[in-house]
Amino acid sequence: MCGIVGYKGKNEACDLLIDALRRLEYRGYDSAGIAIWHKGKIEIGRKKGKVNELGKDVCNKEIFQGSMGLAHTRWATHGTPSEKNAHPHKAGDVVVVHNGIVENYMDLKERLRQDGHKFLSDTDTEVIPHLIMSHINKGMGFVDAVRAALAELKGSYAIGAIREKERIMVAAKKESPLIVGIGLGEYFIASDVPAILNRTNKVIFLEDNDIAVFKDGQLILMNIDGESVDRKVHEIHWSGAMAEKGGYKHFMLKEIFEQPRAISETLIGRIKEEKGQIEFDELKLPDLNTITKIWMVACGTSYHACMIGKQMIEANLRIPVETDVASEFRYRDPIIDKNHILILVSQSGETADTIAAMKEGKKNGAYTLCICNVLGSTLARDCDGVIFTHAGPEIGVASTKAFTTQISIFYLLMLHMGRKLGIMSGDEVRDFIGEIKRIPHKIQAILEQSSAMEELARRYMGYKDFLYLGRGINYPTVLEGALKLKEISYIHAEAYAAGEMKHGPIALIDENLPIVIVSPRDHTYKKTCSNVEEVITRRGKTLLFTDDMDHEMASKVEAIFAVPETIYELEPILAIVPLQLLAYYIANLLGTDVDQPRNLAKSVTVE
Ligand code: AGP
Repeated sequence: MCGIVGYKGKNEACDLLIDALRRLEYRGYDSAGIAIWHKGKIEIGRKKGKVNELGKDVCNKEIFQGSMGLAHTRWATHGTPSEKNAHPHKAGDVVVVHNGIVENYMDLKERLRQDGHKFLSDTDTEVIPHLIMSHINKGMGFVDAVRAALAELKGSYAIGAIREKERIMVAAKKESPLIVGIGLGEYFIASDVPAILNRTNKVIFLEDNDIAVFKDGQLILMNIDGESVDRKVHEIHWSGAMAEKGGYKHFMLKEIFEQPRAISETLIGRIKEEKGQIEFDELKLPDLNTITKIWMVACGTSYHACMIGKQMIEANLRIPVETDVASEFRYRDPIIDKNHILILVSQSGETADTIAAMKEGKKNGAYTLCICNVLGSTLARDCDGVIFTHAGPEIGVASTKAFTTQISIFYLLMLHMGRKLGIMSGDEVRDFIGEIKRIPHKIQAILEQSSAMEELARRYMGYKDFLYLGRGINYPTVLEGALKLKEISYIHAEAYAAGEMKHGPIALIDENLPIVIVSPRDHTYKKTCSNVEEVITRRGKTLLFTDDMDHEMASKVEAIFAVPETIYELEPILAIVPLQLLAYYIANLLGTDVDQPRNLAKSVTVE
């Protein structure tokens, strides 16, 4: 998820663009760049690091004077953070900034190379200006060339494009967000409202396949076929701070609601349904027939994702998997060797214990594979192989969309390995693919019932202890649910394997202890129903999360919440969403600092 901005008007563009970009840094901040049209030439400045670094370099220079330009702050998905991979990208006299993922960039790049185009970066984006130039070289006008180029792209885009020969700015959108800001004699384009609120609150939200052309002081709206379209001008009444969170009160809530998109973006480009297989263009695995064991090591939420990945891979591939928290793994002299794969999971890619675990694995000759959300991070750079989640920046300290995208990657990895090992047929993989493609929509259905969680939070916010129970693949689900509650509300919450309750925790149960039980109708369902009975007979307050409103316990529990049905392996991705919301709403009602809870840091870069 990146941030793009553009300006065309009567004022100096440089400072306006840098200021607008600063307001989008929550969308990504590993590198930034700017392009200003100045007397028929376009000057480009790009820098690794935050927008401030770029700002110091450019706007005081005469060559960056001009009243039309583009700027970009990057959250890398293809190509590590660096000056050469920073946007804007140029081909001929065309300059482009882009937010999204060009799924077919390798094919396009190959075709363009054969036509003589030279590429300077590792990004998918760079194919866009070259594609536009290829159409201009065939005699098309700028706007038509942009339309023709976009028609060839697969994936998602929000772009701004300018060229030296004409004072025209073109913007276009498909799946990635893009707005038009209408000021006094000036126009903006931006990935999100916060970028321009200090200049105007009149906004058009472009729709998929819309193209906006800014020419001679006019705005022309059309679709990708060149037909005129009409879009409503909205008046935005958010504060700047609220706008950065997209109107949500906290980044955590925004990121919970971003999960359908985050999972969709994590799937994009990897599912090859026609072949019945999964492809990771950034992955280089060893020969799986030589692998005798897989390790999965991480911390916190990422460790819970490993526990789910273990169950997926052992159940379907029958390869032994051992999980451990990185802070234990690194000190127990693990019996690990060159026939093992060590999977390290980390949202930030900078967690000290997980980095140390990677070094322990490398020292013993294991193949290290990282599942990570930050390109250019230490783990992403130093592991032998890497698979990126495309969740976009996760600002809230409590991890949410990183967790569900990590599970998505484990699911895809299970299918990828299943095919490579010849254990799964193309049809079997296609069936599994069908299930995960429905997950974003199912999460959306859960999010639409968020008010039920807010109501539950009101009822239970006063309790001082919670017990979470789950079985099988949902034992990690309740571990994660309990972690969410304790780390943002400061309420003590303990998670247990449901079958373990009678071995001790049952002594805790009385009318002062809410018990959260996750029990979808899977092979553990009946057993967990008996746990629910045990709790009820001891006057425990049972909050049941299931996929069946007609659950046989429905009439006996204090509260029941049903998520859509799915296959066993994907139950945690759905069941965790109401638990994330419950934790969020309790913390919000208690007034804790939800996005930056006490004592915590987003990335624990110390031991
Ligand atoms: C999760 O909500 C916590 N913020 C924490 O447990 C986190 O998951 C852990 O520190 C690991 O971080 P990482 O994924 O960036 O390595």
